[in-house]
Amino acid sequence: MTIDFANLPPRSAYAWMSSLIMPRPVAWVSTLSPEGATNLAPFSFFSGVTANPPTLMFVPVNDREGRPKHTLRNIELVPEFVVNVVPQHLAAVMNACSAPLPYGESEFGAFGVGAAPSLRVRPPRVQDAPAAFECCLHQIVRVGEGPMAGNIVIGRILAVHVLDSVLGEEGLPDPAKLDLIGRLGGDGYTTTRDRFDLERP
Ligand SMILES: Cc1cc2nc3c(=O)[nH]c(=O)nc-3n(C[C@H](O)[C@H](O)[C@H](O)COP(=O)(O)O)c2cc1C
Repeated sequence: MTIDFANLPPRSAYAWMSSLIMPRPVAWVSTLSPEGATNLAPFSFFSGVTANPPTLMFVPVNDREGRPKHTLRNIELVPEFVVNVVPQHLAAVMNACSAPLPYGESEFGAFGVGAAPSLRVRPPRVQDAPAAFECCLHQIVRVGEGPMAGNIVIGRILAVHVLDSVLGEEGLPDPAKLDLIGRLGGDGYTTTRDRFDLERP
């Protein structure tokens, strides 16, 4: 079958995209409001951008009324954030952090997520995350406008924290030790424990 996207409602477009563009890594993003309240939310429209300069991106879409998510509001006012990666043992609490709390109410406190101070940015990182990228805002690229329109947040990576216990023999992270989750369509997830290797030509 072929799906014509020309007149597809955004919710149907999202269903097809999220069921086919997968598995997607999850950015568990901590930010800070100007009043000093922490915020923590997951985003799976997430990827690295380039290594020169070292950058990554994730996409908070506007809600169904066209309002920006708290993560985006915070980054526009305090242009720093931490992208924490998500292992399987933190999947449930990560998912809890997608609940729509009132602005200014911290998911760290509401869901008992331990926070650790960051080195180069003001928002804290998730203490138990096996890796966390400290970023400053590089650029926000708006895609569309109104309900469900996107805001590509590009962050410049200033530092990364990695647990020594997830490193492999060559000194880089071992996918099985990291045991990160990938998001599939709907409520499905996979992990980085299922792998195979291909030598590059
Ligand atoms: C695994 C997962 C991935 C998600 N990915 C996105 C995403 O890429 N973009 C988005 O706008 N919302 C995404 N959400 C929903 C947000 O986490 C949710 O709207 C959250 O309340 C936003 O929090 P905030 O308003 O504190 O920023 C995702 C939720 C889950 C559980």
